[in-house]
Amino acid sequence: MHIVHVDLPGRAYAIHIGAGLVNRAGALLAERCSAERATIITDDNVGPLYGDPLAESIELAGFEATILGVPAGDASKSLEIAGQLYDELADGRHARDEPIIALGGGMVGDLAGFVAATWHRGVPFVQVPTTLEADIDAAVGGKTALNHAVGKNLIGAFHQPVLVCTDIACLETLADRDYRAGLAESVKHAVVADAEFLAWQERNLDAILSRQPDVLAELIRRNCAIKAAIVASDERETSCAIVGRAALNFGHTIGHAIEAACGYELRHGEAVALGMMVEMDLAVRLSALGDVERRRVEELLARLQLPHQLPKGTDTADIVARLDADKKVTGGTPRFVLPAGLGEVRWSSPPSPDILDSLARVITP
Ligand code: GLY
Repeated sequence: MHIVHVDLPGRAYAIHIGAGLVNRAGALLAERCSAERATIITDDNVGPLYGDPLAESIELAGFEATILGVPAGDASKSLEIAGQLYDELADGRHARDEPIIALGGGMVGDLAGFVAATWHRGVPFVQVPTTLEADIDAAVGGKTALNHAVGKNLIGAFHQPVLVCTDIACLETLADRDYRAGLAESVKHAVVADAEFLAWQERNLDAILSRQPDVLAELIRRNCAIKAAIVASDERETSCAIVGRAALNFGHTIGHAIEAACGYELRHGEAVALGMMVEMDLAVRLSALGDVERRRVEELLARLQLPHQLPKGTDTADIVARLDADKKVTGGTPRFVLPAGLGEVRWSSPPSPDILDSLARVITP
């Protein structure tokens, strides 16, 4: 088993990575929490697979466990579903020392995390992620969120978990498309922070795609280590002069707009892969990224079978218009984090014509 530490003063926690951790989550929780009860929040895809084994592990460790289910899908990240969960917590008299455990992918983690951040002004929170995207990104770093009609993740709070249990065996049941979509965040981490990790992914590509357990555990460990270091340096994304946590937004500024323009038909990671392509084009033209480096990342995305060209007929003006609704837009100008090489990023505020140009260059000829 691997352990990665997130070193935040007063809120440090460990990410445990290995096979079979759903069954050990209760024992790990008991080391950190003396409450008598715990509430598991999951969705109707993941609950039937791992809900009972997790509840059993929690009960064996001495807690009384309750499972609350929500419909699968991003539409559940809403005030309405959060309200239903508050009602259920109120019915069960969930006390302020009792943990809420998120069992699922990014949607469940964001929703359960938001409920944990706000119920009784914050109760202990545990992440048990079950998708690669959640393992390497969403479950680490304490961002919680609900969607608003105007945009995704516009309502939220920072609320760090007390424990993350990442069971790589859960990835065995993950659909291939979702697995590959998660790998986009791994490419992102390498591009923004660790050029050697990009080379590692290139070297281990076949083992990554075939989900070889040792390689998978190492992939998750390295991603968590990169993210933990970034979060520890700028937990709330408040750095202005240095890029800090905003480095993790590479590919996301355009990616979120692409996601919305495509009516949320793309997986998040697929939109991020396309967003990285557009933002790398901006970086080659406006920042210090070399064309050779851009082609290297493009080839890796292609070998991971992630989309790297926008479909013919994409409405680029619509994508630019949607940038305005993004949280990352300040003072009316979209501010991008662009690679200045592999493993290095800089701020940039490209004018709209440049963004349109880069979008056009990434459209299938
Ligand atoms: N997923 C980006 C972040 O956690 O900051």
